[in-house]
Amino acid sequence: MIARLKKIGFTSKLILSMSLLSISCAKSENTSIDPGLVWPNHGTEEITLQKNMPFPMGAALNVNLLKSNANYRNLVIKEFNSVTAENAMKFAAVHPAKDTYNWSDADYLVDFAIANGKRVHGHTLNWYQSLPDWVNNFQGSTADWENLLKTHIQTVLGHFKGKVVSWDVVNEAIDENGTLRNTIWLQKLGPDYIGRAFQYAHEADPSALLFYNDYGHEYSVTKRTAILKLVSDLKSKGIPIDGIGLQMHTRVTQSDANLASAITTAAATGLKVHISELDISLNPDNVPGASYTVALGEQQAAKYKVIVKAYNSIPKNQQYGITQWNVTDTDSWIPSFYKRADWPLPFDAQYQRKAAYQGILDGIK
Ligand code: G3I
Repeated sequence: MIARLKKIGFTSKLILSMSLLSISCAKSENTSIDPGLVWPNHGTEEITLQKNMPFPMGAALNVNLLKSNANYRNLVIKEFNSVTAENAMKFAAVHPAKDTYNWSDADYLVDFAIANGKRVHGHTLNWYQSLPDWVNNFQGSTADWENLLKTHIQTVLGHFKGKVVSWDVVNEAIDENGTLRNTIWLQKLGPDYIGRAFQYAHEADPSALLFYNDYGHEYSVTKRTAILKLVSDLKSKGIPIDGIGLQMHTRVTQSDANLASAITTAAATGLKVHISELDISLNPDNVPGASYTVALGEQQAAKYKVIVKAYNSIPKNQQYGITQWNVTDTDSWIPSFYKRADWPLPFDAQYQRKAAYQGILDGIK
């Protein structure tokens, strides 16, 4: 159907809007894939992401769900070999007051990961969001602010040393226009706070792999160029940076070319590349009454395939892995944050594999 529409000149965007609009009256379709399904040419053993993908496959985890939801927990154990703390390791979570640290949720996640043989990626040491009030209201000299930055980073790295193997050291320091985001850190410490954050982290745990993490590589050449310049400059100055995290919170209408170039241009830096927060929105324009359909699921599968295929084409030693942000459509941050119906992940609200799951597997064929 879609091919025929394309042949008579419909653009894929128009097709997508048509399929979205036509869905308002579509009866709810059974779109789950039987989890026990034996995928073609793989015999009878069940496929899992962690078993069948050639690089680490991760998910950002909600610790409350990990504690309370057996379906959630079992899916994570089964499918992934890398985990990221969605919120439990952020500044406000672990360092709620100047002389108070709270490790409980983060330690729960780390203990779960180690007990189940999973890698832990730390998120995030320095960000302008998720800061506790005591930081946002902190009054002090430049030296006091420097000490605040260093103490936080080195205390957190020290606590997780030997358990958390990599970190998003600095997150989202580049603004949409390609300049340094005017965060409290830039205002108080100047542009070189970024390099010093990496140095403090390296001093505290020399074995940890250190990443710069951001978004926009697939939709903004301005922002991507600025990010790649930042990380290349850090590297050329001898700052201990090992990798770049592409968040890739993207959408089904994003072009294949843009998705692929985001990945290949990042790899051209020579740094490790972590697709760190992958999700593919199916309702980015918040179409009222939208619902998930087989057609949308297939379009999403095709985009996951494009991303995996491009990622699998970069040098093996730069493949740090692909991490999806959250686990299923129902715990994704997108519907609640944007207050819209959406289905961005490879697992549905019933913890079943969607077409997107097969799209990921198809990306390495
Ligand atoms: O824990 C408090 C709770 O005590 C309080 O009652 C509740 C109501 O205000 O808020 C809870 O904290 C919320 C936290 O998530 C934990 O649920 C924060 O308000 C809320 O802002 C926070 O949102 C997270 C957001 O980052 C900001 O930290 C999202 O879950 C998380 O998915 C999102 O993840 C970010 C990455 O870290 C960076 N890249 C973008 C990505 C999506 O925004």
